[in-house]
Amino acid sequence: MQPLDPRPRASHRPRLLPTLFAGAALTLAALAQSPTPGLTGELPDTSHWPHPSSPSGNRYHRSTASALDLGRRDAIAQLGKALFWDEQVSADNSMACGTCHDIKAGGTDIRHGAVHPNTNFGTFGVIAQADVGTIDYGFVANPTTQVDRLVTPVNAPTMIGAYLFRELFWDLRAGPDFLDDFGNQIPNFLVDAALEDLAVGPPVNEVEMGHENMSWTSGFLQQKLNTSYPLALVDPSTIPPDVAWITGSGHRYDKIFDKVFHWHPQFGGFVGVTRERFAMAIAHYHRTLIPDRAPIDLGLMSAAQVAGFNLIRTRGACFSCHSATGNPQLGVQGTVNPWDNLFSDGRAHDIFLPGQPPRKTPTLRNLGLHQKFFSTGHGSDGISNVFVTNFSELIDFYNQQPGGFGFFPPLSAGEKARVIDFLQNALTDPRVAAETAPFDRPKLYSEANPFGSNLYGSGTGGPSGFVPQMIANAPPKVPGAGAVDWFKLGVGSAPPAEPAWLHLGAATWPGPVVFIDLIFATLFAGTTTNEGFATVQQPVPLIPAMLGIPFFAQWKIADGTGSCLSEAAVVVPF
Ligand code: HEC
Ligand code: HEC
Repeated sequence: MQPLDPRPRASHRPRLLPTLFAGAALTLAALAQSPTPGLTGELPDTSHWPHPSSPSGNRYHRSTASALDLGRRDAIAQLGKALFWDEQVSADNSMACGTCHDIKAGGTDIRHGAVHPNTNFGTFGVIAQADVGTIDYGFVANPTTQVDRLVTPVNAPTMIGAYLFRELFWDLRAGPDFLDDFGNQIPNFLVDAALEDLAVGPPVNEVEMGHENMSWTSGFLQQKLNTSYPLALVDPSTIPPDVAWITGSGHRYDKIFDKVFHWHPQFGGFVGVTRERFAMAIAHYHRTLIPDRAPIDLGLMSAAQVAGFNLIRTRGACFSCHSATGNPQLGVQGTVNPWDNLFSDGRAHDIFLPGQPPRKTPTLRNLGLHQKFFSTGHGSDGISNVFVTNFSELIDFYNQQPGGFGFFPPLSAGEKARVIDFLQNALTDPRVAAETAPFDRPKLYSEANPFGSNLYGSGTGGPSGFVPQMIANAPPKVPGAGAVDWFKLGVGSAPPAEPAWLHLGAATWPGPVVFIDLIFATLFAGTTTNEGFATVQQPVPLIPAMLGIPFFAQWKIADGTGSCLSEAAVVVPF
């Protein structure tokens, strides 16, 4: 349950007076408790403050934990790192958590158009996998506005630093308790488990990684991962050193999960992948993502950045929401109170039009790496015509909040430049910008092979005018021994309730109508759904002999008295 906010809504009050942390002298006792109920957990290991080494799986101080505990905690976090960057967690192997939470964008979504439906973006369609007990390779239209692409209606906030938040998501709906699939609190779990609570959501969410019918209760996802080899889809030369023991073990996730968790008093044993273990691994990984080496942490801010910081303190009400203490100060070393490191109070506020849903104050950490701003991705609530696409417009937005939560009196051009310098550069951890440990990560399959880059030609409509679209997002990975074969091709935007065939050929054909040649197989896919979707009912089996040898695929759908064709796809098994 969310505790009642003891502080008034920031937009209705002037600046918070310096209270708890006035002055530069900080005592550990004063730091022991979070000054805002929106933040939680344990601070980074302050024994090394002001330059704490990032603890792995932080929650206990690294300096006082036993070697055994440290080893276990690190192993869980490393498993979480592998899972976060593994596209096999998604229904059709096309999306990892990291697809939307890109480190080089500070942990946010770098993909063009990701927030709104955009025909040039995202995976067209998701091929549902067989759920346990049913053979359903079918493909169901998504009734929401995501038009069957894995794009989200809101912008993705970052997971970097999120370990300090008591509740997560823009509307704070995840945490602080870890709930089971039926909404009940999991007994004897961590007090603050928002990260765990959140982590189990995306894999079964139809706009993130799952699709209709994906659920933890069915056991399908657990089974899918149990039989998958960790990080099988990423570029192997980019696997971070700390997870190399996982990929190098030659084991599937079932064995790795057991190795990492078998000792656990509550979730131990030899049971492979479980929902709780998955959640704990991801959460441990997130607790290693501590962005604490920015210029502001190291006392390396330029004079202009310090001036920008002070302008924000003195001319803007910014820190009444964008800090934990309400009044961050630069200490003798030029650094701030560790609770203020996130530059967020972890609470939700209205900053657009009243009546819009309140949104959580995002951390300003690594803001300079963001490609998009605000929960909407461009700063508009859809009503007030606010569009913020760069730092200059951002300051203009806050300059135009008369007597409210913005800058007052408004910043001059020179002041604006200093504030931008602070926001854009002083809060950026160079390890995040350079994607180095602990922010290193493997290169995803979809980065090396962007969605749609395997398509060519163009579909042709039949009498009804529907032009079928090929769905070929699943990476054509030849399954390892014992792994489940999941490679499938689908079609969308086709005439409804019509027979569908998939032609497979050994060569391309220049067109203009047929784009594949030397057809060696035609697979009947049954009839399309009422929404015009079909999937090959018999998955195209990929075998080692096909490694590296391209083949070509194109859909033909009956259309009343005629027929229509999709564009073609080239498939190179790897
Ligand atoms: C399709 C894009 C997408 C994928 C894939 C995705 N996320 Fe997110 N993530 C989002 C969006 C959008 C939000 C904000 C949703 C909201 O607030 O309603 C979000 C929010 C979060 C937050 C909350 C941060 C905060 O401060 O509130 C965390 C943590 C997170 N995701 C972790 C994950 C993990 C772990 C996975 C994989 C299991 C994952 N995400 C997969 C788009 C994605
Ligand atoms: C009343 C609380 C409040 C005050 C005061 C406030 N902000 Fe915010 N800020 C928010 C909230 C809430 C959001 C997220 C809104 C959304 O995205 O829907 C936000 C978003 C932002 C973002 C976008 C971050 C991102 O990741 O997209 C920036 C940058 C920002 N604020 C800077 C400032 C500055 C600079 C000031 C002072 C001039 C300021 N804020 C004052 C609450 C506040």
